[in-house]
Formats: sequence, structure tokens, C-alpha cells
Amino acid sequence: MDKDFSLRELNTFGFDVKARYFQELKTMDDVRELIKNPEFIACRNATVSRLLVLSGGSNILFSSEFFDGFVVYPNLKGIEVLEETAETVKIRCYCGEVWKDFVDYTVAHNLYGLENLADIPGKVGAAPVQNIGAYGTEVKDTIHQVHTIDLTTGETKVFSNEECRFSYRNSIFKTTKNHLIFAVDFILKKHGDLKLDYGNIRNYLIANNITNPTLQDIAATVKAIRAEKLPEVGVVGSVGSFFQNAIVPVDKYQEIKGLYPEVPYYQVEIPPLPSVGRNDKLIKIPSGWLIDRAGWKGYRENHVGVWDKQALVLVHYGGGQPQEILDLMKKIQDSVKTKFGVDIKPEVNIV
Ligand code: EPU
Repeated sequence: MDKDFSLRELNTFGFDVKARYFQELKTMDDVRELIKNPEFIACRNATVSRLLVLSGGSNILFSSEFFDGFVVYPNLKGIEVLEETAETVKIRCYCGEVWKDFVDYTVAHNLYGLENLADIPGKVGAAPVQNIGAYGTEVKDTIHQVHTIDLTTGETKVFSNEECRFSYRNSIFKTTKNHLIFAVDFILKKHGDLKLDYGNIRNYLIANNITNPTLQDIAATVKAIRAEKLPEVGVVGSVGSFFQNAIVPVDKYQEIKGLYPEVPYYQVEIPPLPSVGRNDKLIKIPSGWLIDRAGWKGYRENHVGVWDKQALVLVHYGGGQPQEILDLMKKIQDSVKTKFGVDIKPEVNIV
């Protein structure tokens, strides 16, 4: 166990936050040892939990420069083929594998399912937590089961896909924090349909004269589109999308559309909420569009700002403090609320 450990290299925002206690876990034995550690037990049992399981650090914002608690960094490695049929391959991937390397591995082995999720930063163990998604694909559609260990009892538990309760950027693991994910089993297809209809994939293929795209072409296209829109991890501090897309009642969407006929939208798959009353539909409006129209794209203030190619992304140019991002977040939320009457929520996990 380390004390006053710098997490600067372990959060993609690049803030120099220190953790009072830090423990990397490389094996299941490390996990069992951890559960007996007195500092760990004290932090876990504190009235307000002072325990944090940190994965790739690509979706986290520390609210201050000192985390007065215990940071656990699960880093088990390995990829195993468990089962193969004529149509599918079942693969176990351990939590510490880098997500984009795992996607590259599946694409290189001609396995379909994860190609639209190429180049997403982070590690495999975090992918189920917020049901990562991009370009019309969500990871939930390939997850067979999730292997966890209970940080209170040390017992292992396997969650079936259904038990994970996946929805847009959400799962059971966002609220039940005691389960450390140590491996994820995926079922991938040997032959599959490529998803070209989201974002710019189809346009990019046409522009590059690719008429009969392969699995590899799609992964390469997604990488190229991401590289155009998103800051490079490790060069400019960010967490990808800082905000979730807004989900609004259909009336609100129509009101905005009346003023801005070009407003982009997606139908929402989740069932309507009772609180929405007489509206029987919800509409997803890209928060990046709302923030952009509110005039924030490319805005910079001291060490932080709004990415000039995608307004959903807040950036840290280095040397700043988490509070600067929190202040900017508040200003953007207030301005979108004033202009459109829409509340936008952070996607990033603020601790
Ligand atoms: N838009 C603007 N201005 C902007 C940004 C976006 O007008 O500054 C418009 C775009 O023109 C487009 C729409 O908003 O019509 C949607 O933009 P985009 O296709 O770039 O996707 P997004 O909805 O902003 C989501 C995910 C991304 C994912 C992309 C591609 C969320 C919160 N974000 O962004 O995920 O890569 O779709 O599928 O759902 C992430 O989670 O970190 C992430 C990057």
C-alpha cells in the first residue's frame, strides 16, 4: 500500500490529485489481502464511504486535490477464449486490460460486436459500469456476464447480462459500489452486420471510396472520426463527453425545434417515466449541440475550457485545479438552462 500517492497519471483529466492510501491489485490474492487491510476497512466502513475503485481514470473528476480515503486500482490482466461455436466466440477479458487494445484484438481476430467502440479510453473493468457506447453501439449488447468480488465479504458473484440492469450510460454497478469487477465475459460474432448509420460513418466511407466495408474498415473509420472530434488522451486532459445527452419531454423538444428547426435528436429507447405526465414520449437532444448553440465551443478560461471541435468535452490544458472544471461546469449548466430551459447532467463521475 502507498500513502499520499499521486494519481496524476491515473486520471485522464491530468489533475495532480493525491490519495491518502493507494493499492494496486494484480491478482485475486491481492484482492483477498486488501480486504484484511485495517486502513482499507476503516475507509470502507466510514459513515460516508471513503473508498474509491479507480479503473482507467477516463471518466472521473476529483473535486479537490486530496482524496482523503483509500483508492483501489484493480489491474488484473489476461484475455482467454472460453468457448467457440460456428457462429460465436465467448471471451473472458480481465479488468486491467486497456479497452482499446481489447477492441483491436477482437477486430484483428475478425470478431464482430465491438468495432464501433474502438479507441474509447479506459479499461475493460469499467466498460460495464457506465455501459460505454458510441456510434450506435452499446457494450451491453456483447456482454454475457460480469465477474465481481464483494469488497465487504470477499465473496465472488457473477452477474448475468440481465442482472447488470444496463441502460443508457448506466448499470447496477453505478449504485452498488461494493462489487469490484475483475473480469467480463463477452459473446462476439464470427459473422455480423456492420452498423454504419450513426454519426458520420457512412459519409466517411463514401468520402474515402470504401464501397464494401470490412470489420477492419469500420474500426479504422471510427478511430479517424474520433481523432477529428476528440482531444488525444495523454496530450490534452479530458474525460470524453463531460455531460450526458439531455433527455426531454416531447413538448420541450418541439419548443426548441420551433426556434431552431435543425436541432438534432434521437428517440429514446427507455420506457416513458410516469413523472412526464401526459407526454408519452421522451426525446434525446445532444448536449453538445445545446452547449454549442449557447456559445461555449472553444471557450477558454485559465487552465480549462470547452473543446473547439466538440462542445460536450471539457478540457484541462495542464497546471489547473479540479475546481476550475467544476466552476466551468456550473456556468455551462446555468447558461443552457437559461437559454433552453433544459438541465444537463454530468456524465463524468465526480468524487
Ligand atoms: N453537435 C454540435 N456541436 C457540438 C457537438 C455536437 O452541433 O459541439 C451536434 C452534432 O452535429 C450532431 C449531434 O450534436 O448532430 C451529436 O454529436 P456527436 O455525433 O458528436 O455525438 P454526441 O451525441 O455528442 C455521443 C456520445 C459520445 C460518442 C458519440 C458518437 C454521449 C454523452 N456521448 O456524443 O461518447 O463518442 O455519441 O457515438 O452519449 C463519451 O462518452 O465520452 C463519448 C465521447
